[in-house]
Amino acid sequence: MMRIITIATIWGFICIVNQVKSITNYKEGGENWTEGWCAVGKKQSPIDIPTSLGSFTVNSVRLVENQKLELILTDSVMSQVVVEDLITTYEVPFTDGFLALWDENDYLDTYKLVQFHVHAPSEHTFDGRHYDLEIHFVHKHQTRDRLAVLSVPFDVEKGGNQANDFISSLKIGEKNVQNVTIPTMNLVKKLNKNKIFHYDGSLTTPPCNETVEWIVVNDPQPISSAQVKVFNDRWMNNQTFANGHGNNRIVQSLNQRYIYMKQEVKSSLGISCFSISMTFILMGIFVMFY
Ligand SMILES: *[C@@H]1O[C@H](CO)[C@@H](O)[C@H](O)[C@H]1NC(C)=O
Ligand SMILES: *[C@@H]1O[C@H](CO)[C@@H](O)[C@H](O)[C@H]1NC(C)=O
Ligand SMILES: *[C@@H]1O[C@H](CO)[C@@H](O)[C@H](O)[C@H]1NC(C)=O
Ligand SMILES: *[C@@H]1O[C@H](CO)[C@@H](O)[C@H](O)[C@H]1NC(C)=O
Repeated sequence: MMRIITIATIWGFICIVNQVKSITNYKEGGENWTEGWCAVGKKQSPIDIPTSLGSFTVNSVRLVENQKLELILTDSVMSQVVVEDLITTYEVPFTDGFLALWDENDYLDTYKLVQFHVHAPSEHTFDGRHYDLEIHFVHKHQTRDRLAVLSVPFDVEKGGNQANDFISSLKIGEKNVQNVTIPTMNLVKKLNKNKIFHYDGSLTTPPCNETVEWIVVNDPQPISSAQVKVFNDRWMNNQTFANGHGNNRIVQSLNQRYIYMKQEVKSSLGISCFSISMTFILMGIFVMFY
């Protein structure tokens, strides 16, 4: 009896799927992003922030007194951290920090720092003006799917043209840098926590999730022109990046949102008395582009 042995050859195909990670495209300043909530959301970020009531050009501005808006930050020195070049930003993963926000509804919530990253020019504008740089400290809520992003601006003109230690510590543009030590506390300590704005917004990159408590500190920090140039050469002055655009998404409509501002109250002597009077200005803009 003859045995026919069939040898089946099994061909194994190894499929290498070349997954192209989509890189945020800034060529249109984010105008043509279609992912997630970018095109359809009504609570998008960044926005333009009017810094005083006088700069409002619309109606419906209301004063609300006896409400609190407090920002509490714990901070530390980040040591042995890696500054990641993600092409569209520099990002530093870091987890040693907490942010607590006592919001305008007297609700206190805490978030844990997960990373910070850089935008140049700033994403938020103030009375229509960009600052040179804006750093976003991204904090995550411990249990809920919410983020609190602390936005800190840097500006040569408004903050002063001098080298900033925090920026220097990132060692961006320097050769053979591995791990760095970043004195975050030096920056956080200096921030004027009485100049904060709070509003409900989104991520400023796709998919633009509308899950962000924005805390924007309008206290521009010093930075030297040379330091700004390093970021601008990377993005704004780099033709292959976005033809003269930085890594900032253009400002979005406020729609039916409020911006809450912690108001600095001047006494008759011209002295600021934050602790005495907790007056906040509730600024509402209704349906400009609705
Ligand atoms: C946005 O426009 C740029 C060119 O200006 C293009 O390269 C990019 O693919 C567009 N993105 C989307 C999501 O349409
Ligand atoms: C850099 O930091 C990583 C962890 O973040 C660590 O594993 C590595 O040993 C450090 N490298 C140097 C040269 O210190
Ligand atoms: C954004 O939303 C998408 C879809 O719901 C989700 O998968 C993703 O984790 C969210 N990202 C952030 C940072 O919340
Ligand atoms: C210019 O941008 C491209 C990405 O579009 C990047 O790969 C390149 O390194 C940038 N050039 C400089 C000098 O940063």
